[in-house]
Amino acid sequence: MSFTSDKVTEYLSTFYRPVDDDLAALRYYNEENEVPLILRETEGLLSFLLEILKPQHILEIGTAYGYSAMFFAKKLPAARITTIDRAPAMIPVATQVFYDHEEGERIDFRTGDAADVLDDLVENCSGDDLYDFVFIDAGKSHYRDFFDKAEQLCRPGAVIVCDNILMHGWTVDRSYEGAKRHRTNVKYMRQFLDYIYEREDLTVSLLSSGDGLAIIKLHE
Ligand SMILES: C[S@@+](CC[C@H](N)C(=O)[O-])C[C@H]1O[C@@H](n2cnc3c(N)ncnc32)[C@H](O)[C@@H]1O
Repeated sequence: MSFTSDKVTEYLSTFYRPVDDDLAALRYYNEENEVPLILRETEGLLSFLLEILKPQHILEIGTAYGYSAMFFAKKLPAARITTIDRAPAMIPVATQVFYDHEEGERIDFRTGDAADVLDDLVENCSGDDLYDFVFIDAGKSHYRDFFDKAEQLCRPGAVIVCDNILMHGWTVDRSYEGAKRHRTNVKYMRQFLDYIYEREDLTVSLLSSGDGLAIIKLHE
């Protein structure tokens, strides 16, 4: 369900082009089984960004069944990807997906709470390990913490994309169905968006595409 217009989303979806048939099959499997994954519109935008930026080292927070990590790996055949998830229901499936695909060899799957895994990465990070692209797609009330930690792992000028910033419209207005139940997430998401916008050293663009995206470029 889109908070803008289902008709617009449906129309834009007709322009969706998967990287290959294998990835398309993975998307259909995830969609049929109601596993969370990036929306088609979001994939289109990420695809465009990756095409321009050509990052070589990508950090993803929120793996689920591994769809977006596989998308990164297929889209950029030389890139290395680190992806993090903590859910017992997701870990064995994503592990198997990465094992079954040759691209999975370039995916470093870290399991555990992202806050702890990121602390560990920060502690053991050398200059060669720095990331040039980060995709944040996990616990919506923790974006500020994920962002702060990810930033320490990035090269100057790196790009950080945060998904679901509008959370079905809840971030915008209480009248959207479900908003009241998710008050805490809304509060933290709003604080996060205010924070990145107030930082004068960041270049920030907020988009209503998909479920809302923040595209942030770190200072060179
Ligand atoms: C929207 S799904 C990710 C979808 C995935 N990026 C894709 O497009 O295929 C969010 C995932 O974040 C994970 N997650 C949420 N909070 C987390 C946390 N604090 N640490 C690690 N993983 C977390 C959930 O288990 C879930 O699998």
